[in-house]
Amino acid sequence: MAATVISGKEISKVFRERLKQSIDLIKSEKVDDPNAIFPGLAVIQVGADPASSIYVNNKKKSCEEVGIVSFSYTLEDTATEAELIELIETLNKDPRVHGILCQLPLPKHMDEFSVINAIDPKKDVDGFHPVNKGLLSIGRDCLVSCTPLGCLMMLKEMNIDISGKNCVIIGRSNIVGKPLAALMLAENATVTIAHSKTKDLKALCRTADILIAAIGRSGFVTEDFVKPGAVVIDVGINRDPDNKVRGDVKYDEVFEVAGAITPVPGGVGPMTIAMLLQNTYKSYLSLTQS
Ligand code: GUN
Repeated sequence: MAATVISGKEISKVFRERLKQSIDLIKSEKVDDPNAIFPGLAVIQVGADPASSIYVNNKKKSCEEVGIVSFSYTLEDTATEAELIELIETLNKDPRVHGILCQLPLPKHMDEFSVINAIDPKKDVDGFHPVNKGLLSIGRDCLVSCTPLGCLMMLKEMNIDISGKNCVIIGRSNIVGKPLAALMLAENATVTIAHSKTKDLKALCRTADILIAAIGRSGFVTEDFVKPGAVVIDVGINRDPDNKVRGDVKYDEVFEVAGAITPVPGGVGPMTIAMLLQNTYKSYLSLTQS
């Protein structure tokens, strides 16, 4: 039996349209106010890594499409960490800016932790600041990292039951695996995080009703990892030697076993961007209505 395809492309469109409607409404309400402030996202890129430039440009373009103002900052890769932190501190104080995104990775001479720590947690639309990570871990409202939030929103939009389900997440990164585990736990799933030292990974994965692959290895999850009928979410974005983008899941064979599956591309990726926009809107509301 073939799986239902969970189209992040289509679901993200629904989120972006909803967001555009909300922002259009704010704009229409403030049409006569010359001092009105609308949702704004500051995007910082350090250096000119081509992959980062593509991501950053996609983020800026998506902002414009829903009516979020984007402010771009590009620093040379020779810039100092102090210069970057000074820019972040200026943006922390700027009332036009509700979200600050500093594209990672940073050049080697900069400490990512110190840079992320400099961002006002209320403007931390990546959900990377330790304050937001801590709030998430105790189940409080906060800014949640975009990729894990996008995975959860896809499951919800598809009306997939999470409560009481066995959820296995392969990958323990701070950006995906750990925050996703906290989100799924908050939805009452029984969560296991697997990683490179996990014993008998295949057998563990076959216990999953919801299997999430966030490993970063092309085609790692084969059909023998998957319980028939399970929901499979593929977070991987890998470039194969033929330059094609491939997920962590061998899509064609897992498609035949799974109950539902996200494709790559067109799965988690578009949801990540939609959640960045949503987080910026959420920050805007909390910063302007308090
Ligand atoms: N680099 C790759 N993914 C991301 C992301 O989600 N946020 C930031 N800031 N940098 C990234």
